[in-house]
Amino acid sequence: MEYFVKSTNPAKRRTPCLVLGVLSKQKLSAPAEAVDKASDGFLGRLVKQGDMDGDLGQTLMLYQVPGINAERVLLVGCGKHRELTPAAYRKIVAAATRVLQQGPTTSATWCVTEPLPKGASIYGLARDTVLAAEDTLYRFDQCKSKAEPPKHPLTRLDLLIGSDLDRDEAARGLAHGIAMASGVTLAKDLGNLPGNICTPSYLAERALDLAKDCQSLRVRVLEAEDMKKLGMGALLSVASGSRQPPKLIVMEYSGGKGSEKPVVLVGKGLTFDAGGISIKPAADMDQMKYDMCGGASVIGALKACADLGLPLNVVGLVPSSENLPDGAANKPGDIVTSMSGQTIEILNTDAEGRLILCDTLTYAERYEPVAVIDVATLTGACIIALGHFASGLMANDERLAAEVLEAGEHTGDRAWRLPLWDDYQKALDSPFADMANIGGRSAGAITAACFLWRYTKKLKWAHLDVAGTAWKTGEDKGATGRPVPLLTQFLLRRSEMGA
Ligand code: BES
Ligand code: MN
Ligand code: ZN
Repeated sequence: MEYFVKSTNPAKRRTPCLVLGVLSKQKLSAPAEAVDKASDGFLGRLVKQGDMDGDLGQTLMLYQVPGINAERVLLVGCGKHRELTPAAYRKIVAAATRVLQQGPTTSATWCVTEPLPKGASIYGLARDTVLAAEDTLYRFDQCKSKAEPPKHPLTRLDLLIGSDLDRDEAARGLAHGIAMASGVTLAKDLGNLPGNICTPSYLAERALDLAKDCQSLRVRVLEAEDMKKLGMGALLSVASGSRQPPKLIVMEYSGGKGSEKPVVLVGKGLTFDAGGISIKPAADMDQMKYDMCGGASVIGALKACADLGLPLNVVGLVPSSENLPDGAANKPGDIVTSMSGQTIEILNTDAEGRLILCDTLTYAERYEPVAVIDVATLTGACIIALGHFASGLMANDERLAAEVLEAGEHTGDRAWRLPLWDDYQKALDSPFADMANIGGRSAGAITAACFLWRYTKKLKWAHLDVAGTAWKTGEDKGATGRPVPLLTQFLLRRSEMGA
């Protein structure tokens, strides 16, 4: 969709549809007031009749409103003024764009820009408008033989602002929103693709494609032989049960000065996790195509960086493999040597994420990064601990942890911290190797992070377990694109472009 900033009087605006906010208790927003005046009290009377109370997310389409130039008016409920948070605002955008998408209009003018949500700026409002609209309009029909797109898809939204002085800030918000949303959409597409199409090689190809469109982005792919030379015994051991060759995707975005050390993002790119010899139960196993969502979010975040032209150096590393049972697969009890030299007893072949990540984290050391964030659908235990709203955050650096939490809060892509304490490390003791690849039944998300912690002693590192947040089940089944908004906001702040 295309987005523009406009600053005319809403009553004068020629548009197929004017979207106006109504607050709780039938209170018109300022732009709605202006339209009410021009229409000789039409809106006010209608609202008094009780058709629109202003409840959050309520919508009402009006035709032939007198005294204005718009062909239609869509009223959208904004709820109570004091409860108008950025999260509530995103619900308003979703409700209105859903109606617009179903209707006959392909463009609309968005006047729900006053009052601003609590703590929001016009920049933030513009950005959230794009992110929430694109999130609502997203469809995945690549694999349908006959796609049935909406008859009249919404293709243009004009953001109407009250003051011309805000024009630059609003335009900047739109531009940032568009770049973030393109990263989210890419991550969703990669996530939703099935395992037979989205293989490690496919992921690598998509990453290589991004480099074609961007001068500052260099993408290389390490093959199994390269991994062998580097001593990546843990990563290779996971891939040994698969007929698909593993890939380590290396994306180097250099928007900053040559000498500047990068932020490194690492994403688990497991394109299908059957569990290996420690095979998973059949029910819902299809969802394990989403086990590459961490990797997809890193690829998405790199795309957003490139689109934004961020003045920052960022490296994305995505180890990619399948985890399948096979004669050559890892077996419980096998001991492998990781690139760091540390040996691992594989007690459960289904704890494979940490095996592909640990070698990648060791590889990350060569960049002498200022910070490393890994993103992984790592543990079912994280879903038990936090459910589907918060990603689990564990970190070995207080400042970095605070920064990640703040970036999540700011974008509504929230994380919640779990403790990373030495006390938990004992669970990984092995009588035969330096460590086991699983802890006991308790604190599974934390013991998984403890495993990775053993590979990040030289790094400022944060770990995001996105097992509960990377995709949705049920009616709106599909990848969410999380945590691309969090990662992009983190990088925007680091590059001091963010607001
Ligand atoms: N990819 C899974 C984690 C997962 C499971 C994410 C369900 C989302 C939904 C991971 O590789 C895995 O299998 N983890 C095991 C670890 C266990 C064997 C210690 C798990 O969580 O059961
Ligand atoms: Mn697994
Ligand atoms: Zn997995």
